[in-house]
Amino acid sequence: MNLFRPYCIQLLFWIIVWFFTGALRAEDGYQLWLRYNKISQPKLLSHYREHITEIVIQESSQTFQAVQEELRKGLSGLLGKEIPVVSSVSQDGAIVVGTLEQSSVVRKLVGASELESVGAESYIIRSLCWNNRMVTVIAANQPKGVLYGAFHFLRLIQTQQPLDKLSIQQKPQIQKRLLNHWDNLDGSVERGYAGKSIWKWENLPGKVDTRYKDYARANASIGINGTVLNNVNSQAEILTKDYIEKAAAIANVLRPYGIQVYFSIKFTSPMEIGGLTTADPLNMSVCQWWKEKAREIYQDIPDFGGFLVKAYSEGQPGPQIYGRSHADGANMLAEALKPYGGTVMWRSFVYDISIDKDRAKCAYLEFVPLDGKFASSVFVQTKNGPIDFQPREPFNPLFGAMPKTPLMMEFQITQEYTGQSKHLVYLAPQWKEVLDSDTYANGPGTLVAEVVDGTADKHTISGIAGVSGIGTDRNWTGHHFSQANWYAFGRLAWDPSLSSEQIAEEWIRMTWSNDPQVINPIQKMMAGSWEACVDYMTPMGLHHLMAEGHHYGPQPDYVHPGRNDWSSTYYHKADANGIGFDRSEKGSNAVSQYHQPLRQIWNSPKTCPEKYLLWFHHLPWDYPLASGITLWDRLNMHYQKGVNYVTLMQKEWDSLQGKIDPGRFEDVENRLEMQHENAGEWRDTCLKYFGRFAETQEQCEP
Ligand code: GCU
Repeated sequence: MNLFRPYCIQLLFWIIVWFFTGALRAEDGYQLWLRYNKISQPKLLSHYREHITEIVIQESSQTFQAVQEELRKGLSGLLGKEIPVVSSVSQDGAIVVGTLEQSSVVRKLVGASELESVGAESYIIRSLCWNNRMVTVIAANQPKGVLYGAFHFLRLIQTQQPLDKLSIQQKPQIQKRLLNHWDNLDGSVERGYAGKSIWKWENLPGKVDTRYKDYARANASIGINGTVLNNVNSQAEILTKDYIEKAAAIANVLRPYGIQVYFSIKFTSPMEIGGLTTADPLNMSVCQWWKEKAREIYQDIPDFGGFLVKAYSEGQPGPQIYGRSHADGANMLAEALKPYGGTVMWRSFVYDISIDKDRAKCAYLEFVPLDGKFASSVFVQTKNGPIDFQPREPFNPLFGAMPKTPLMMEFQITQEYTGQSKHLVYLAPQWKEVLDSDTYANGPGTLVAEVVDGTADKHTISGIAGVSGIGTDRNWTGHHFSQANWYAFGRLAWDPSLSSEQIAEEWIRMTWSNDPQVINPIQKMMAGSWEACVDYMTPMGLHHLMAEGHHYGPQPDYVHPGRNDWSSTYYHKADANGIGFDRSEKGSNAVSQYHQPLRQIWNSPKTCPEKYLLWFHHLPWDYPLASGITLWDRLNMHYQKGVNYVTLMQKEWDSLQGKIDPGRFEDVENRLEMQHENAGEWRDTCLKYFGRFAETQEQCEP
């Protein structure tokens, strides 16, 4: 007996350790921000248990099934006990969930006029006293709104907000909030850094991966309501009967979560899979082929969203082959989708260098003359900047230049040019910089966000797309922190006025911890991570110095054998006389594509903000900046500053050891180490290369 006792004590000790470190065990990031771990603070827990005792649901659609499942899963996880689902209020703490039309309880609790005014996807969450019972109502006009409301309610608990006196009314600012998958039909993902495509085309439609549902849950939780399943560099096969059936199986899983599916289409599909001899958008047989195709798709996918098109760009065919315009092509597709309410998203990512030698000017020159010529269901989908998702670009001048056309914003969530899945770079500040930029299109205060949400030009449709960074990696995005970019994209798509700090805090609380000792260091890391990336890659307006092909590391000396505008040297133009692309009036005059006063401010190196200086100007190495420092010295400072920030991020992260589950901790730790090494390589390579010119010049001076 005595011999046995020490073992028992030891065993007990380990059980206690196991129990209390439960939160720190085996997390792999699969659950994203929907972790629903039990609240550990007793006071908070009892507050929530008091306010949540039962879920009252009177509806039974597929979406309500999803609402019920999520609330049960979330609330039982967070509260550590089962919360029953009932059909009428029986006690204090009832959570009444429903639509005005279907739920008699909701009708009694919320005024019809109040709900009607909030729109299809909107919702209300409110604390009420009803028949002497304390209840919370989550109400909407449509099941989808209720689903969004349910996720919002869960988020309140996940982020530890009080539940008494709730009075929330939410409405999305932008209607179409889409992910764009650049997923190929062979399972590879263009610019994907998180494994293979999650769409298992080879198994569909028979076998439907359980992951699709978790994908839908995650997206619905942040309000994403559409997904383009395949790459913009499209293959005609996506429109074959087989693939339509496969996509229909995915659509069936996403539908209850309010997510429509869309296809990227190849313009020459009528020839490649339809046996026609032309794809001319003005040819009757071609128009008929697309109409038939649309009919076939809608038969299988009644809520199909529409087509995304990359035309006459980077090898993709377009109407120009037949001497037709972008508008001719887009309108033909719009006509085919019209009977079903489908949308066309026609990309403006074109840079036919025969139009202008400055690639940054090409899209504007092609598209602005077409303003007013697109059918009403066509969006022109436009990347945030005029080149290509560089770490920093001024906003794309098309925003504010096509008032008669709804412009859909395209951001890149996958980190093609920002360290891929190896660098921690929180992109919300980048997106905010763009959304908050003043275009001056209708006078001061016409923000890019207002062009996108349609209010600037009174459009009835609005949209935003994010190029997905999702793959089969267990944690979905490769880097655990890349999840934050997916999250932030959805939140900003819902409400572009949210701050990047607020979004980061929500995400940290849900993904890592509600402990301030965890929140603060991670906030700090994320807040400056984008600026740091700009600093150690392409500071002061430099751009496209990335290595050819993979776009990861630095290659400032790269010269493409065939295309000047695919060379790094084309963008930085460094020589003994200086560095930078002259886009002022004296140079390519790209500044003229912006409204006044931007045109004037950016035209002079004296008034151009330092962050865009070398985007718009070619300046001598010893150019004196306002601070008195030379351009070359300042460039050196930026590169070093970027590397220093990664060191700071490493320190902050190390302070979290023991406060974060070891699996995710080590993974991030290792990636930060790689990032540090790579940031140093960026600094050294770029400064060595530019130094060849800069330092020669200094020696030449008298
Ligand atoms: C970038 C990217 C390509 C992509 C293209 C696009 O150029 O490197 O992979 O196809 O953008 O947006 O179409």
